[in-house]
Amino acid sequence: MDKVIIFDTTLRDGEQAAGGMLNIQEKLGVARQLEKLGVDVIEAGFPVSSPGDFGAVQSIAREVRGAIICGLARAHPKDIDSAWAALKEAEHPRIHVFLSASDIHMLHQLKKSREQILEMSRDMVARAKKYTDDIEFSPMDASRANPEFIYQVLEAVIDAGATTVNIPDTVGYAIPEEFGRLIEGIFSNVKNIGRAVVSVHCHDDLGLAVANSLEAVRQGARQVECTINGIGERAGNASLEEIVMAIETRSDFFKLTTGINTKQIYNTSRMVSELTGFSVQSNKAIVGANAFRHQSGIHQDGVIKMPITYEIIDPKKVGVPASSLVMGKLSGRNAFRERLAELGYSLGEEDFIHTFQAFKELADKKKEVTDRDIESLVAEEMRTVTEAYHLERIQVTCGDRGIPTAAVKLTGPDGITLADAALGTGPVDAVYKTINRLVKIPNTLTEFSVKSVTEGIDAIGEVLIRIESEGVTYTGRGADTDIIVASAKAYINALNRLLALKKATV
Ligand code: KIV
Ligand code: ZN
Repeated sequence: MDKVIIFDTTLRDGEQAAGGMLNIQEKLGVARQLEKLGVDVIEAGFPVSSPGDFGAVQSIAREVRGAIICGLARAHPKDIDSAWAALKEAEHPRIHVFLSASDIHMLHQLKKSREQILEMSRDMVARAKKYTDDIEFSPMDASRANPEFIYQVLEAVIDAGATTVNIPDTVGYAIPEEFGRLIEGIFSNVKNIGRAVVSVHCHDDLGLAVANSLEAVRQGARQVECTINGIGERAGNASLEEIVMAIETRSDFFKLTTGINTKQIYNTSRMVSELTGFSVQSNKAIVGANAFRHQSGIHQDGVIKMPITYEIIDPKKVGVPASSLVMGKLSGRNAFRERLAELGYSLGEEDFIHTFQAFKELADKKKEVTDRDIESLVAEEMRTVTEAYHLERIQVTCGDRGIPTAAVKLTGPDGITLADAALGTGPVDAVYKTINRLVKIPNTLTEFSVKSVTEGIDAIGEVLIRIESEGVTYTGRGADTDIIVASAKAYINALNRLLALKKATV
């Protein structure tokens, strides 16, 4: 069967989602997981956009093998040179050049004519081609552009050396039938189209990103750009798991395949959600908590008799853990390692030791440690940023009589111990005010949420916060059976991210 190339842009377009910023270590962790998932192309970032992005693309290019590693570049010489500088150590590097091609963008944003766009596209693809053979070109906002002009641009960039031409529905405006016609038109009007792979990149503003991508595939597109959990700019991108499982589950219809190891889908989804702080809605197809849960009696009866009655996908096929084997304080190191492996994690020795220690501490507080608890412990270990500040101790008094008071002890830069106390309107306010007195970084708290990882009063509480400083949003997460401690950890995590980014940009 013909294969559809899966181009994952979680680390570029996905990370562009407001508040979804990841640090280099986290991006590297996601890239390694994408490699296990078997994606064909990893768009690792937009190197010219920031030193952090450059560093992430460079580390991924150095360390991840197998997949093509791609870096984004506007049609500017310095973007292309920077993309190549970041990518040059990759086993299979790809430069992805983009330039707006719709009249709306040309007139209002770029203030350039069609002739100028055509010339820049051709010249910049030729410049990128001097560095590497694998060049992708995207005429941005293609779905709102004049199709004849798109044909002209594609022909020119293929002649200049583009090997993949990607058709973006940048603002999620297209309707499947219409988008399919555009792809069909490209195949019948671009003379040299046989020399390039046709790709699509759809946004989800009207909830049609997956439908548009699949229609394009039906019309001959053989690369789909997508993200884990569908995260991305605004309403997001086409969701990788939905595209892949639609192609796999309906292979009778599409007669196509992908190189994805579908058993890694669930893990990858959890990892991306934990690291970005974007939770997956419970009714989300394929990876939502309810995706394989049957509530109605009739459905339950059917599934017990024969799963195929109401289940079109075996949950095991996408790696949803079959059992929720419960671990407890008597579970040893080997059992824990085995459970981690069953959940799809292979931690380095140091990470394993920390996570096992955290598991033991949790098992002392909580009778049963479930898979979700273990996922939360692994995520806690993985989100460790270079810590400028570390939470040592926290003590809070609160209730409906006294004034909430917090005392906090931190280890700061160079191992210095810092301690202070403050009053607040509630315990979290008191803790955050105390931390502010110690850390002294002006910021605004824009989001705060607590959720419990499992049922039960002794569950781990996960706190997610977002803070804003100088126009940039930083996410912080913390987990603990005490939600005030989790709140403090989340705040310190966000502040450490802020400091790490500032340090990386000086
Ligand atoms: O949405 C878009 O048009 C993009 C391009 C850079 C491909 O993300
Ligand atoms: Zn996009």
